[in-house]
Amino acid sequence: MVVCRQFGLNILNKSTIRHFDYSTCSNILESKLLRTKHLLKYNKLSSDIASQDSKQNLKQTDIQRLKSKSSVYIHWPYCRRKCTYCNFNKYVAKKVDNESMIASILQEWETVSRETGVNQPTSIFFGGGTPSLMQHKDIRQIISHISGGSDIEISLEANPSDILETALEFKQAGVNRLSLGIQSFQDTTLQFFNRDHDAETGQRSLETCLNVFGSRRVSGDLIFGVPGQTVQDWLQELRVLVSLGVHHISTYQLTVERGTLLHKQVKTGSARLPGEEELADLYLAGVQLLTSEGFNRYEVSSFAKEGAECSHNISYWRGHQYIGLGPGAHSRVGFGAEREARINVLAPGRWMNQVESTGDGIVQRRKLDLLECLGELITTGLRRSVGINGNDWNTLSQNLLPFQDLISELNRVQEDKERSGELEGLAWSQDGVWLDNSALNIADHIIPNLYYVLQDLIKFQ
Ligand SMILES: C[S@@+](CC[C@H](N)C(=O)[O-])C[C@H]1O[C@@H](n2cnc3c(N)ncnc32)[C@H](O)[C@@H]1O
Ligand code: SF4
Repeated sequence: MVVCRQFGLNILNKSTIRHFDYSTCSNILESKLLRTKHLLKYNKLSSDIASQDSKQNLKQTDIQRLKSKSSVYIHWPYCRRKCTYCNFNKYVAKKVDNESMIASILQEWETVSRETGVNQPTSIFFGGGTPSLMQHKDIRQIISHISGGSDIEISLEANPSDILETALEFKQAGVNRLSLGIQSFQDTTLQFFNRDHDAETGQRSLETCLNVFGSRRVSGDLIFGVPGQTVQDWLQELRVLVSLGVHHISTYQLTVERGTLLHKQVKTGSARLPGEEELADLYLAGVQLLTSEGFNRYEVSSFAKEGAECSHNISYWRGHQYIGLGPGAHSRVGFGAEREARINVLAPGRWMNQVESTGDGIVQRRKLDLLECLGELITTGLRRSVGINGNDWNTLSQNLLPFQDLISELNRVQEDKERSGELEGLAWSQDGVWLDNSALNIADHIIPNLYYVLQDLIKFQ
């Protein structure tokens, strides 16, 4: 939830969407894939899936109860060195003032939780930057302060070289889920990325983490779309990860970000990234392999065996509240007309100073309108295999635009012969709206179509 994780409609957590840039690949994928015939509106199988969420949701319809709940993201902005592709809010500092950072995180939590009424964190996620550089005692203090001892998912993003010797201490400090930045098992690729670990360290640290946390509680991140990478190379990377026994994998498409060394390399021609067609081949081959290995693509870039899904990310994608603490962190607070987007000060020193003087590090806050609010839900929710649940829609919109109205509009457009093509790949029932498995391959191509339907609905409401 840091600034640089935002993208698209100015609304998204980059970690949830960046992994595969469909906008660049969608045309090719489209011609490669069998075009999905428009789906039956009341497709039994998919509506069963959607209603799984619905059941959970029905329990949560009380808005007051929802307002007291939020996931919590904590941004640790420091890294040992800069990876060539990364433009996240991160700093390589000679000396980090841990004490002041921790005091500010705790103070910001106190202020925001008091002001918003959030007193039940549903998950905590330490992201970065490199939070595996944090001290265990600090992690322990933050967890016990924020979670109050409740049994919730507590994830930490870790770099392999840090965690090798310290995995157990992080677990003892209260972390119960680890997201390990493996990125590649090829030394040449790791050097190209300027990572601070080699392939052997990546593998050993993964084995250690699996021993300490268990297969269901470890996720491995891999990057695809590296210069010269063939489908066989990519599948080999995935096979190593799978064979080591993780139950959760995130695949990130290498993205060229402004201000990075990679950007310069690509601009000057010293690095050539795969073309759109090659990227599509890599992505699809990966999906196929992971599916055959028993992983469910529960979100476009996230693959998990049953029970290993990341509940923190799911809560973003469902439009729940989230509170971001730390430099550059983003938050979404409230529902319906009250929904507010907040952004924290980017630079750690300035963020600490502001927290000290005002209690929080928020530099920008503004109310989201209905289109922005529901646009976010569409953009993140349709990337989930179960799609968007009607109850989540109604909760987020506070019935300012009932889900039933969206369904009626979809039915109307569907009946209009000239327009029905606009809905290709979308399926819906009274309970939800979703993309089928093949449409999910070109999700970013289809998602705008639902967004346009929403736009018209709001315009003519
Ligand atoms: C920003 S990192 C933070 C966690 C940790 N420091 C690490 O490097 O794994 C989170 C994830 O984003 C990925 N990432 C950052 N920039 C990226 C880019 N331009 N393209 C693809 N993945 C990227 C990282 O490789 C990592 O897996
Ligand atoms: S270690 Fe992680 S956060 Fe730091 S520069 Fe590398 S990818 Fe970015």
